[in-house]
Amino acid sequence: MKKIVMVCLGNICRSPLAEGLLRSKVGQTVETDSAGTAAYHEGEAPDPRSIKIGRKYGVNISDLRGRQFVSEDFDRFDKIYVMDESNYQNVLKLARNEEDESKVDYILNEVYPGKNLSVPDPYYGGDQGFEDMYIMLDAATDKIVLKLQDGRI
Ligand code: 4NP
Repeated sequence: MKKIVMVCLGNICRSPLAEGLLRSKVGQTVETDSAGTAAYHEGEAPDPRSIKIGRKYGVNISDLRGRQFVSEDFDRFDKIYVMDESNYQNVLKLARNEEDESKVDYILNEVYPGKNLSVPDPYYGGDQGFEDMYIMLDAATDKIVLKLQDGRI
């Protein structure tokens, strides 16, 4: 079974929603997880605003809990999707070799290949940031599903 982990800073806003969206689209056929590059929210449920935007579109993420990304995740997962450049740099710092590095990509590269665009951190903003995040992650996870289906992941 393929294994995919979504990574952001706190693991309470962006990556849990990305995980939940992918889980809702692939069911039990793929192992999904998420993590933060920081440990601030270890053990916490997602931000209530992320739970709310998910619920609005039928994606339940209330069972997910925060954890920090660790270098062993390079062994556990086939693909590591980051939300922004800071996440990218922080994950790469934990890579032990080129194989580890090759597993990491910006999630929006699935929609806009090679552009290294970020899913902006909605934590300090208003509701629109959560709506925008949802739209971006919905599109990106659709593309990930297609890749899984035809064996490109
Ligand atoms: P996330 O958002 O990386 O999408 O989970 C954040 C959540 C918490 C903090 C920063 C970003 N924080 O500084 O606590």
